[in-house]
Amino acid sequence: MHPKPSPDAATVHELSTPAVVVDIDALEHNLSTMAAVLPGALLRPHVKAHKSTALAAMQRRHGHHHFTCATVREMVGMARAGLGEDLLLANEVVDPDRLHELAMLQDRAMITVAVDSDATVDAAARAGIRHVLIDVNIGLPRCGCAPGEAGRLAQRARDHGMVVRGVMGYEGHLMAVDDRGTQQRDTLAAMDQLREAAREVGGDIISAGGTGNHDVHAAHRARTGVTEVQAGSYALMDTYYSALGLPFRQALTILGTVIATHEKWAVADVGLKSLGMDHGNPSIANHKVWFCSDEHVTFATEKPDDARTDHTGPTASSIRAPQPAVGTRVRVIPAHVDPTMAMHDSFYLVRGDDVLDRLPIDLRGW
Ligand SMILES: Cc1ncc(COP(=O)(O)O)c(C=O)c1O
Repeated sequence: MHPKPSPDAATVHELSTPAVVVDIDALEHNLSTMAAVLPGALLRPHVKAHKSTALAAMQRRHGHHHFTCATVREMVGMARAGLGEDLLLANEVVDPDRLHELAMLQDRAMITVAVDSDATVDAAARAGIRHVLIDVNIGLPRCGCAPGEAGRLAQRARDHGMVVRGVMGYEGHLMAVDDRGTQQRDTLAAMDQLREAAREVGGDIISAGGTGNHDVHAAHRARTGVTEVQAGSYALMDTYYSALGLPFRQALTILGTVIATHEKWAVADVGLKSLGMDHGNPSIANHKVWFCSDEHVTFATEKPDDARTDHTGPTASSIRAPQPAVGTRVRVIPAHVDPTMAMHDSFYLVRGDDVLDRLPIDLRGW
């Protein structure tokens, strides 16, 4: 267990930057909004989106006791934190040492591992894994067996003496389709494939989906047979998902400090080493982000006449110099939450300017 660090500043303005800041009211809104749409076991929150046992414990308090993980490290950390009631590794592993580490947890936690090939079934069996889920490819060119292979792999796992709990499929290519009608149609078509595979596989679980189409899953469970949704980003959010108009608020920002100001631009100390950039540049409210480099974001006030930043207001000096002054704090909103969290070792829970707590991001690594 990681010791719980106490907050080392009373207000946001005292934090050293870059710092991961999570607005507790937005977080609570997101957790309760999702729990109302997909209560209890209908949501298997994906912890890869935040990599924090403290945040997973909050999701548990909202009624979700079963979790999805992407790495063995996440599985082990969740089990050790007492959050191992039902953990799914929704990812393939062939490393015998890591599988052995998972198998050793089985007396204290419910461990299920996704398999999608003869090699992954056999590796899980050799390590002594007791429960598997057949991972089916339903359109995203990543892991998952062909739907027609699922029944045969389930039989192979059973021949090894393992329990096959059902199927999973991740339709990641459909998460950010901005035409909701198209997204719904394509999600239902993908789920038809998954359900067909589930008939061949048996078991109780049909696990799929994410933040981007959680509502499609909630509305169409009777047709799809989906028993649980693996959403994770909804808790903290990012600009990739906020562009879709989902009912979740931006809880995560990276606090930065302006370290240089020029006539036409300013620079803050939040660069690509503190931000997941695979979904593009971050955003700063009322400013235009030009680009990021290792430790810098270069940005400009959007309207040269309006020098207002997120907290300084239009002071006399800022009216003369439209870019934010050196020392100004800025809130940088990442385009992709998961890799952003993976770059930091702790986050601050805040309400307004008050720092309430500092919590470890303790599920990093593999
Ligand atoms: C296997 C799996 N399930 C579910 C998700 C859903 O996550 P999100 O909440 O970001 O849509 C992901 C995200 O990449 C994933 O890889």
